[in-house]
Amino acid sequence: MARSVTEWVTVTGDISIIARESGEVWFHSPSSTKEGVDPFATPMTGAGAAGSTVGLLDGAINLGFAGIEKRLARPDPTLVNYTVALVGAYHTSVDTPRNLQRAARRFNELGRPEVAAYLEERAREETGHDRLALKDLRALGLPAERLVANFVPEGIKPLCKRFDDLCVQDYPIGCIGYSYCLERIAALKQKTDVEKVQAMCPDGVDATRFLRSHSGLGSEVTHVEETIEFVASLPANDRISVVQETYESALIMAEGYNHEFLKSEAEMLADLQQAVGEALPYRLSSYPSHGEKRGARPAA
Ligand SMILES: [Fe+2]
Ligand SMILES: [Fe+2]
Repeated sequence: MARSVTEWVTVTGDISIIARESGEVWFHSPSSTKEGVDPFATPMTGAGAAGSTVGLLDGAINLGFAGIEKRLARPDPTLVNYTVALVGAYHTSVDTPRNLQRAARRFNELGRPEVAAYLEERAREETGHDRLALKDLRALGLPAERLVANFVPEGIKPLCKRFDDLCVQDYPIGCIGYSYCLERIAALKQKTDVEKVQAMCPDGVDATRFLRSHSGLGSEVTHVEETIEFVASLPANDRISVVQETYESALIMAEGYNHEFLKSEAEMLADLQQAVGEALPYRLSSYPSHGEKRGARPAA
């Protein structure tokens, strides 16, 4: 009988993630092991398997988000923070196909056509997703192009920069870890999340195109599954790099969430209004976030 696969990756100086094909995942601290007896001190070299690779990838995300886990009890969305999220979604989508194609060309040069083919396929799948976010913004009555041209949410900037940087590296394998992190987190969104947004949109307005397709209801689930299979098929040193970058991207994303949590509804609205250079439609300001009093709703 074939032996069950065990994979491991050190993601910080003091933490390794260990995952078994059976689904067990645990974190291991090399410094807690006596020198010379740590079986995970040297990088893994064996083949991967989907069951253990997903443990490493999701373990990396959990670890990256561990610092803000308690704060992730998401407040109900408001139209203001949903609008900011849509602007962020636009910025994390708009360069994705071009960036992935660039990384694909590099892998072709490196004689890795299977990685190039995977990235080209992903580039095709992601094409047009920025337009979904623009359509949603327009559906909310906003000047979408002006808004995204003049505003990148603070928490999103480092994430966009990370992806740009990863895709121009000489060996751009990390872009797969970044994409996994974003897609895996998007795929956690459920029907109830979409319904909450629909409920606060004016009647007849469909502003959830991007959210639906980047949730557990849309293509994101398949993208995540395909990526797990593909990463599991890679050589050990590539799997290590992908998991390490999944962790780094999760840290950056968690920091970005932190940033957004610290902003009040009024500050977010001010950012949006400054970007478009005009007062936004009343309905954006009519749904104050937690901690703010809901004002009387003027007759629209
Ligand atoms: Fe997408
Ligand atoms: Fe996707």
